[in-house]
Amino acid sequence: MSHPEPRPLTLSARGPLRGTVTVPGDKSISHRSLMFSALAVGESRIEGLLEGEDVLATAAAMRAMGADVTRDEDGVWRVHGVGVGGLLQPQAALDMGNSGTSTRLLMGLVASHPITATFTGDGSLSGRPMGRVIEPLSRMGADITASPGGRLPLMVRGLNPAVPIEYTLPVASAQVKSAVLLAGLNTPGITRVIEPVPTRDHSERMLRGFGADLRIEDGADGKIISITGEAELKPQHIVVPGDPSSAGFWMVAASIVPGSEILIRNVCMNPTRAGLITALKLMGADISEIDAREMGGEAVADLRVRHAPLSAIEVPPALAPSMIDEYPILFVAAAFAQGRTVARGAHELRVKESDRIATMRIALEAAGVSTIEHEDGLTIEGSGGELLPGAAHIASKLDHRIAMSMAIAGLGARRAITIDDVSPVATSYPGFFGVMESLLVA
Ligand code: S3P
Repeated sequence: MSHPEPRPLTLSARGPLRGTVTVPGDKSISHRSLMFSALAVGESRIEGLLEGEDVLATAAAMRAMGADVTRDEDGVWRVHGVGVGGLLQPQAALDMGNSGTSTRLLMGLVASHPITATFTGDGSLSGRPMGRVIEPLSRMGADITASPGGRLPLMVRGLNPAVPIEYTLPVASAQVKSAVLLAGLNTPGITRVIEPVPTRDHSERMLRGFGADLRIEDGADGKIISITGEAELKPQHIVVPGDPSSAGFWMVAASIVPGSEILIRNVCMNPTRAGLITALKLMGADISEIDAREMGGEAVADLRVRHAPLSAIEVPPALAPSMIDEYPILFVAAAFAQGRTVARGAHELRVKESDRIATMRIALEAAGVSTIEHEDGLTIEGSGGELLPGAAHIASKLDHRIAMSMAIAGLGARRAITIDDVSPVATSYPGFFGVMESLLVA
């Protein structure tokens, strides 16, 4: 799971992108497919699973806790679950690699099982705050010993039976929401999460699909999500839709490089994930949805993206939860827009795989873009469609989305941009550079 050998990469402008791309399966849905299948009784089948390192870390952890997880030659994954309450004591520490989603959701699962698990991760993950899940899970009775600052490595000693809680999310985080709901799955009674600001709702949709008794109501302080514990999950056949976060790189690449026209197939259009499309359209991007349809409880469409001159906007802060992973690539779009884009209200970017506000500010400045750093975002002076000066060395800071965003920026740079290490791209989009090549020569 670690990347001992940094893999540098150098790029500069290479002409338009053309052709069709099918992005890999959605990362959030892939993690949840494996976890929920591992808790169902019987065999689930998963098609289109993202085979990135983060999801493979989840697969390995579910195996370590007793599920039988295999991959057929045709790429279909089969999971024989142990049933809610049936997770086994892992024999070694669970290596979560770079994956915050694996860590926080699995901490929730362990919290209400009679097992103890140690979680370790890479340098990036070991710097990320886990207090946000430690707090509610401790209230449910889990005994959690973390490294200083509530960080990894940490150990979760589950309590069985755990205590149901009502928890109002202090940060807009689908990971915290999901950690509490997953702990609630094996907790007698009703566990409630109150979500003042909506975040991605894949856990809710999928848990219902697996047969859990999960209710959602509107309350005075936001959505109230209630799960009835000691649930029995039924095995499913899941088809994972394409990852809108991965699609975002190609949306921006085609928008900023003149002469580009691409079709991105099979993109998950769940409204809690669609903020980047909204923001790019506000900037004047030419993105059209084709063949909107439903796949496994999620809205899906193909997206046709043509180059278009972009204009600066004030990015509506209300979009933040629905495009939280897309800010780095939105910042790249802003670097090519006419005028000054202001993106605020995204403080959570400070605690992602890297501090994405500082990392992108440094990267864009190095490539010749003027920026102003705010506590909760960036102001970016766009080039008005001109190539960026480039001639930059970029530190990707073990952050896949920084590496991919700056690679796209490289496609609009006069002189080369060198990224110090693109190996973290394998955590979420192993085929990224192959797809880039195919779109550039098509
Ligand atoms: C995710 C939730 C988001 C997101 C992450 C995936 C999930 O994190 O940034 O990439 O699958 O639940 P937060 O919950 O920390 O906002």
